[in-house]
Amino acid sequence: MCPPEHFRVTYAINPWMDPATPVDLPLAVKQWQALRDRYRALGHTVDELDPHPDLPDLVYAANGATVIDGRVLGARFAHPERRPEAALHREWHLRSSGAAAPVYFREPEHVNEGEGDFAVTAGFLLAGRGFRSSPLSHAEAQEFFARPVIGLDLVDPRFYHLDTALCVLDDSRDDAVMYYPEAFSPGSRTVLARLFPDAVLAEEADALALGLNAVSDGHHVLLPREAAGLVAPLRERGYDPVPVELGELLKGGGSVKCCTGELRS
Ligand code: ARG
Repeated sequence: MCPPEHFRVTYAINPWMDPATPVDLPLAVKQWQALRDRYRALGHTVDELDPHPDLPDLVYAANGATVIDGRVLGARFAHPERRPEAALHREWHLRSSGAAAPVYFREPEHVNEGEGDFAVTAGFLLAGRGFRSSPLSHAEAQEFFARPVIGLDLVDPRFYHLDTALCVLDDSRDDAVMYYPEAFSPGSRTVLARLFPDAVLAEEADALALGLNAVSDGHHVLLPREAAGLVAPLRERGYDPVPVELGELLKGGGSVKCCTGELRS
């Protein structure tokens, strides 16, 4: 995670961002710290990346890399505003990652925005395309991770990253995902229905609260408080939903998952 000390909305690269909207920075910092502390209270280790004064979106740490079994695929950002973030993540992974074994880092050839568009399930690497990550990054990721990649077409600009429209609830069971069907093309919707017949399907209101931008450890599901409609279906499936306040970070178009890069090492 990267503290939001320098978070602000000064450019707009997704429909959630409006540079005219003021950000309450002390509140953003408080909300972010509460999320970090919640992870720690649940027994997870949280490492911090140093914030950078010129990179307000660095707080969305999920976009910096994809890590599976100690193999790290670096990011290459679609927009020039975020491009310099990739090197900071690379340095972190090469220098200070808490991993016991040395990491194997790949400098990406094609545009991919890390876990914004890559999601790991038990059997697959789900990969979003349409707004940010290049479809060419899918083949690159498949070759690097040696996991079958399922390409999914995003069609609604409000759900510009896969992680705004789909969340993996348990990466040891292949049917354990939740998603918002309308964010996907008709063909991709059918693919998702085939692969995940028991998925939790989100309603529009919960998707618009960025309720799918959640992080699950297989039991606790941390999600934005406003996505209240997801609480009951998650409980029915045996998960423990943990609502969190991240209203200030929503102004940049992100919530829990965007703020969290997962180290599967
Ligand atoms: N303002 C950032 C952008 O548009 C938000 C990134 C959100 N991150 C995510 N993993 N969806 O790139």
